[in-house]
Amino acid sequence: MGENAPEEQVLVDYPDSKSPSLYLKNPTQEEKVATWSINAANWGKALSEPDYLEREAYLTTVPLAKDNGVTHWILVDRNLPPNERSILASCESLRKPVLVSHNGVVTEGITHGIGSVFSQPKFRGKGYATRMLRELAPILKTWQTDPNIPGRETCPFSILYSDIGTKYYSKFGWEVHPSTHVALPPSSSPSSSSAKTLSYTDLPPLCALDEQTLRTQLSQTSDNKTHVALLPSYEQMQWHHKREDFVTSKIFSKSPTIKGAICDSPGSRVWAIWTRAYYGPLKPESGNTLHILRLVLEDERDTQENVESLKAVLQIAQREAEEWKVSEVDVWNPSQVVRSLVRKTGLEHEEVERKEESIASLMWYGEGKGTADEIRWVANEKFGWC
Ligand SMILES: CC(C)(COP(=O)(O)OP(=O)(O)OC[C@H]1O[C@@H](n2cnc3c(N)ncnc32)[C@H](O)[C@@H]1OP(=O)(O)O)[C@@H](O)C(=O)NCCC(=O)NCCS
Repeated sequence: MGENAPEEQVLVDYPDSKSPSLYLKNPTQEEKVATWSINAANWGKALSEPDYLEREAYLTTVPLAKDNGVTHWILVDRNLPPNERSILASCESLRKPVLVSHNGVVTEGITHGIGSVFSQPKFRGKGYATRMLRELAPILKTWQTDPNIPGRETCPFSILYSDIGTKYYSKFGWEVHPSTHVALPPSSSPSSSSAKTLSYTDLPPLCALDEQTLRTQLSQTSDNKTHVALLPSYEQMQWHHKREDFVTSKIFSKSPTIKGAICDSPGSRVWAIWTRAYYGPLKPESGNTLHILRLVLEDERDTQENVESLKAVLQIAQREAEEWKVSEVDVWNPSQVVRSLVRKTGLEHEEVERKEESIASLMWYGEGKGTADEIRWVANEKFGWC
């Protein structure tokens, strides 16, 4: 600032974050767009701003999100009219089907995955996101539940994936759950011929079978713990694929048709469904990643056959990562068996425990404390992310 410049007056009104005049509302369309325009600086770096705004609007229309599957939330002053009030904090919640099992008794319900938690820079550090989250948590417990709709009777828990470490959300009651992954580099080396690629039309029957197997698995629990799982349904995968197709069409003017790979040995098939996610320009520092949304081993044992099958599937993923210019292939929360198998493949890889980004977090609404010790989050893989 020049020596004689008048002192700048920043006329921003900062209401007290505890004020009763603040409340949580659903934004108007204009307010949604305003929110996306501001958070584009954080989450739109792979796209131009108009493309990012288009993507966010488009993502409200895809299966899972459409018909109120997604809900947008803003913290505002109740005395100010829509479109003229400051948006002090914002987020969204996406409804997803879940299973809960206790000693083999399986019930269905919904969860809400909270995403895009945001406060614009000028409003940060004043407790607005805290206020929003403290109000939202109990609302979600009954949000869109309906005793007359099978599968929608209860919302036993809500989830989120923290990108700001393990502490912020846990203080509100979203408990930190295992958040690890195995990371493999892209590779152009030819894969063994024993795996086949999966495209869109291959996925629905595989997802249906996966859902069925998971139900059976949960019906066999007997350890007095509560086991919870998001359903790895086709719609869950599709939500990621619609996003991927939109983003790749903007970046590459085409979209990938290979959505996974399978090694088809009867009775012990191994398959992976994946998506490519772009967080910034096509450079290693952007962290663009081919995420395995869901990895299934029909016969999950530490056998040489599984080593070969998993290797063949992962090699196709690595080849796709190379082809689509992402920096790594990630498999979230691999089981002990899968870790062992990956080691035996001889493929270069790293085992990572995440401390900052994508920390899977769950708030339990049922009986008990809902600590990560009491609640076992089964199939806690990337498909559940939002
Ligand atoms: C994270 C965010 C929503 C917090 O909003 P806010 O209204 O400033 O939050 P509050 O005032 O309620 O709380 C501030 C706290 O958040 C913490 N916080 C903010 N950003 C953080 C980060 N990147 N890592 C860890 N903690 C963070 C602050 O340290 C502060 O902690 P304190 O209460 O112990 O002092 C806001 O900083 C933001 O929009 N950031 C960019 C987008 C983002 O990262 N969103 C989270 C995605 S999971």
